[in-house]
Amino acid sequence: MSPAASILAASPTLSQAPYWYLTRSTGITAFVLLTVSMAFGIAATHRALASPAWPRFATQNLHRNVSLLSLAFLAVHIVTTIVDGFVTISWWAVVVPFMSDYRTLWVALGTIAFDLTLIVIVSSQLRRRMSVSLWRRIHLTAYAAWPLAFLHFLNTGTDAAHGRFGIWVDIGCAGVIAAALAVRVVAGDNTPRPLRSLVR
Ligand code: HEM
Repeated sequence: MSPAASILAASPTLSQAPYWYLTRSTGITAFVLLTVSMAFGIAATHRALASPAWPRFATQNLHRNVSLLSLAFLAVHIVTTIVDGFVTISWWAVVVPFMSDYRTLWVALGTIAFDLTLIVIVSSQLRRRMSVSLWRRIHLTAYAAWPLAFLHFLNTGTDAAHGRFGIWVDIGCAGVIAAALAVRVVAGDNTPRPLRSLVR
């Protein structure tokens, strides 16, 4: 029997382990949404990608709303991880890295990605209360959160192990980010001038 087939044969069913299935499905959904949000964020900095039919604020709104949706799925991913009794992960491990005995390093990368994502999203909600330059510096940490979540997905989850479908989801998401960054590089730095001087 192949490794993937033996994992499937040994896996509990949905009715035996509903939280575990929720952890997996919401983790994958949150990561895909995080990827889509990143891609919209990268596209939103480009006037060249906007048109009268698709103005830049439409991309910005999608960027904001998709990131909030991803946070909602992340919350379910984390809560179901903790309440599922299969592995013991404490509430501390949600925000403090390296507190999980289960796959310590790979869960820690998820924890750091979560902390950074939370900081980026909360600071965006408080954007009007801080300077543009501070907000933008904080926002750029999203570029660190995504690769950490990518590695967490690749090494923690059941569905990316042993060549299962998750690995293709993870690699597909990396392709989306690479394509968005390539478009950005080809189109050049199109950050509005006032913002550019503020972040230097
Ligand atoms: C930005 C933050 C995070 C993202 C995007 C994320 C995403 C994911 C994804 C995509 C998987 C793979 C699911 C599968 O293979 O079916 C996963 C697995 C997992 N995550 Fe997260 N995660 C994050 C944060 C966390 C945190 C903070 C914890 C716990 C403290 C955590 C605990 C786990 C565990 C235990 C698994 C393994 C589930 C299994 O047995 O398959 N994750 N995560």
